[in-house]
Amino acid sequence: DLYGAERRNSAGIDLADPVATAALADRMAAAAAARATAAPLVGGRPVDGATRSVVSPADNSVVVGHVADATAETVDAAIARATRAGPDWDTIAAAERAAILDRAADLYEADGPRLMALIVREGGRTVPDALSELREAVDFLRYYAARARSDFAVRRLPGPTGERNELRLAARGTFACISPWNFPLAIFTGQVAAALAAGNAVLAKPAEQTPLVGAAAIALLHRAGVPGDVLQFLPGDGATVGARLVADPRVSGIAFTGSTDTARAINRVLADRPGPIAPFIAETGGQNALIVDSSALPEQVVQDVLTSAFNSAGQRCSALRVLFVQADAADRTLTMLKGAMAELRIGDPALLSTDIGPVIDGEAQAMLQRHAQRMRREGRVVIEMQAPPGTERGSFFAPAAYEIDALDRLEGEVFGPILHVVRWQAGRLDQVIDAIRATGYGLTLGVHSRIDETVRQVISRVGVGNVYVNRNMVGAVVGVQPFGGEGLSGTGPKAGGPHYLPRFATERTLSVDT
Ligand code: SER
Repeated sequence: DLYGAERRNSAGIDLADPVATAALADRMAAAAAARATAAPLVGGRPVDGATRSVVSPADNSVVVGHVADATAETVDAAIARATRAGPDWDTIAAAERAAILDRAADLYEADGPRLMALIVREGGRTVPDALSELREAVDFLRYYAARARSDFAVRRLPGPTGERNELRLAARGTFACISPWNFPLAIFTGQVAAALAAGNAVLAKPAEQTPLVGAAAIALLHRAGVPGDVLQFLPGDGATVGARLVADPRVSGIAFTGSTDTARAINRVLADRPGPIAPFIAETGGQNALIVDSSALPEQVVQDVLTSAFNSAGQRCSALRVLFVQADAADRTLTMLKGAMAELRIGDPALLSTDIGPVIDGEAQAMLQRHAQRMRREGRVVIEMQAPPGTERGSFFAPAAYEIDALDRLEGEVFGPILHVVRWQAGRLDQVIDAIRATGYGLTLGVHSRIDETVRQVISRVGVGNVYVNRNMVGAVVGVQPFGGEGLSGTGPKAGGPHYLPRFATERTLSVDT
C-alpha cells in the first residue's frame, strides 16, 4: 500500500447539516469559555515562568489564554533529555509508534471541537478553515503511521555472492520541528508526527502567535502514549528558542515551515555549526500564479480565484498571488470578480457566515497596508473592500485586487488577501511562463483553459510543486495531493506524500557473510 490507498482520510463534520453544526457550535462555545494555557513541557512536566497573554486577532481586547515561553536554560534541558530518550524510541517497533499515532488521531477527532475553538480564537481562522485543518492534522497522523509501518520494514536485497544483504531505515536522533501560525494544528502536527513516526525524539516549537493550539496538540499526543522525554514542547520566539535549537549540534535534523528568509538563515547556521551534518526540511513561501486564457469558463475562474486568493484571508503558502488573465477576457473576468468579491463577508471568524476573518496580528496588517499604498501608486486599483464596523478592534485587512504591468513589480510574497492581476496578450504564453519561472519560487500554480495544448505547455514548462488545472489552488489533501514546492519554495520532500518519512531517517545496510 505504497500510496496509502487502503487508508481513509478523516470524514470531518458536514457543515451543511444543521443538527451536526448546532452540536459543533455548542461544543465549540463551551470550549471557548475555558481559558487556555501553555507552558514549556520538559520530560512531560510543565516549566513555570513569566507568562504573556495571547489575544484574539479578531478582537485584541479578548485574551484567549496565557503562555509561559521557554528560556535558554529550558531549551538546553529539553535537548539533553531528548538526546537520552531518542535511542529507546527508535528501538521500539515502528508498528508500535504507528499505533500511538493512530491513537492520537482518534483523540484529535474526539476533541475536535475544542481544538477548532482554539484555532478560531487564537489563530483567527474561520470555522470551515478550522475544520479542514483538524481533518488535515488527523490525516497526517494516520498517514505517517501507515507509512511508518511500511517504510521501516527491513528490505532484503540481492546477495549475489551468497551474503545476506538488508536495507532499513533508522531514526536520525533528535528533530526540531519549527512550525508556522497559519496552520497551527495541521502543520505543527504533520511535522511532529513524521519525526516521531521515524523514531526521532522531537522538540516542537510552535509559532510565537499560536502556542495554545500547539499545547493542546501536545497534550493529546502525550495522552496517546508518546513519552514525555520523546516529545517536548518549547513555545517562544525565534531568537530564543528557534535559533538555539538550530545551533545545537545535538539536534540532528530540522523541519521548518515559514519564510524563505528564515529558511536561509537556518541553513547558514547549520552549515557553520560543529557536529553532524543535519538534514534540513524546509517548506517556505510562494509567488503563486494562475494563468487564465480566453477559453476558460469565467464563472469557474471567478469562483476559483476567490477561493485561492482570499480563503483563509490569503494566509496560506499555497494562496494565489498573481492572476495572469488573457487580455481579451480580462475586462469581463475582472468585472465578475469585483461583483463576487463584494459579496464576501468579513468579520468574526467564529460566525459560520464569515468568509474572511482577521490576519494574524497588527504587524501583518501594517505590512499589507503598506503594500496596498504602494500598489495604489504603482498599479491600478481593481477593488478595495472595506472591513465592516467592529473589525477595528482586531487585525483585519479587507480583500483587495490591483492590476500591475508585470510580475517583476512585486518584490516577494505578500502574505494576505491581496490579489495582483497582470494582463497577457494572445500568443505570449511563453513570456508569462518565463516571468513566473524568473521569480525563483515554485510552490503552487493554476491554469484555467479548455485548450489542451495550453495546459500541456504550462505543465511542461513551469517548475512548481503543485499544479492545479481548472480548479482552485488551495487545500491539498494528505495522500491525495502531496504538498510542497521547489526552488525558493522549499527543499522538498512533500508533506503528506510517500517520500516524506525517509527524510526524517537515515538508511542502513547490513551485509552478513553466510
Ligand atoms: N497545504 C496548504 C494548502 O494546500 C497550504 O499550506 O492550501
